[in-house]
Amino acid sequence: MPPFSLSERALVDAIDEPALIVEGAIVRLANPPALGLLGKSIEGRDLRLAIRHPQALEHILGHRSGDIDVTGIVDPGRSWRLHIRRLGPTSVLVRMVDRSDAVSAEKMRVDFVANASHELRTPLSTVLGYAETLAEENDLPADLRANFGRTIRDEARRMLRIIEDLMSLSRIEADRFLAPNDSVSIDQVIGTAVANAASLRIARCEFLVDARQDLPPVRGDRAQLVQVLDNLISNAVRYGCEGPAAKIEVSAKRDGRWVALTVSDQGPGIPREHLTRVTERFYRVDAARSRESGGTGLGLAIVKHIVERHKGTLEIKSIVGVGTSVTVRLPAAG
Ligand SMILES: Nc1ncnc2c1ncn2[C@@H]1O[C@H](COP(=O)(O)OP(=O)(O)O)[C@@H](O)[C@H]1O
Ligand SMILES: [Mg+2]
Repeated sequence: MPPFSLSERALVDAIDEPALIVEGAIVRLANPPALGLLGKSIEGRDLRLAIRHPQALEHILGHRSGDIDVTGIVDPGRSWRLHIRRLGPTSVLVRMVDRSDAVSAEKMRVDFVANASHELRTPLSTVLGYAETLAEENDLPADLRANFGRTIRDEARRMLRIIEDLMSLSRIEADRFLAPNDSVSIDQVIGTAVANAASLRIARCEFLVDARQDLPPVRGDRAQLVQVLDNLISNAVRYGCEGPAAKIEVSAKRDGRWVALTVSDQGPGIPREHLTRVTERFYRVDAARSRESGGTGLGLAIVKHIVERHKGTLEIKSIVGVGTSVTVRLPAAG
């Protein structure tokens, strides 16, 4: 077999991530992604001109193998894992793997646990406080006892709702890659959701339903699609149903290869700066109002996850003072 030879240049260029060979303190070679990240003219220059992160420099210029996680080598928001491998006594190969997505997913998970704990602890503290009073004070007037009892019941129900929504979310996430497979009639989904809303006995406004009879079915999970509409209608009722003449409109129509399902209200709307965040877990524009009306802050997060599982799209349009309109597009089965 002829001797095998490969240039260092070909080797570095074959690496997908930004990669460099550093000898002493000089960048000997940098592949195109590294040039893009650290500057076109770093080759032949001192590494300290390209990377100013002290911890990263210390590791690389120590010429020892190891992996380190650093944030903000180039721009402050990005996190990197540097894979440093010794090539010789004073030279190393550095490979830079972007871990920004993993780091922000981890941060979201930590925030989520903290938020969920906080949301549950608040009603639990109330329950404990009232329960202790009931247990310890023997001569409380009857109306006060009843009042405390009702508060305990309401707060416990709130905790139950939060827990049910959390379990819903985790079930939907667990099934994320499982394509839903019922052939679902959107007409029926609307019928069920509107009936559910009536049983909430909070609908002070008029409901208008506009669903075309000839809609194609949707490939989906029937119970989850009812849940989507339940959540959107309950938001319209909770936040968009102020004046006596206010109307909530639920409509479904075909839109190319999609079936578009829209719930609109004539409520106060959602200010623009909140619009992109209302699908985040526990994000609310007005937390007190959401709690008062029985919200958990998870409704739209659940909607978003169900729609994603159905490979559909979610669009929230809102004009302050005019109303909100949420459209879910689902792929038509026919
Ligand atoms: N139709 C709507 N009109 C005005 N604000 C809305 C509407 N739908 C949702 N929002 C806002 O978005 C927030 C998040 O909604 P959601 O995830 O369903 O949680 P929840 O209703 O339990 O608070 C609500 O608290 C509310 O501030
Ligand atoms: Mg809601």
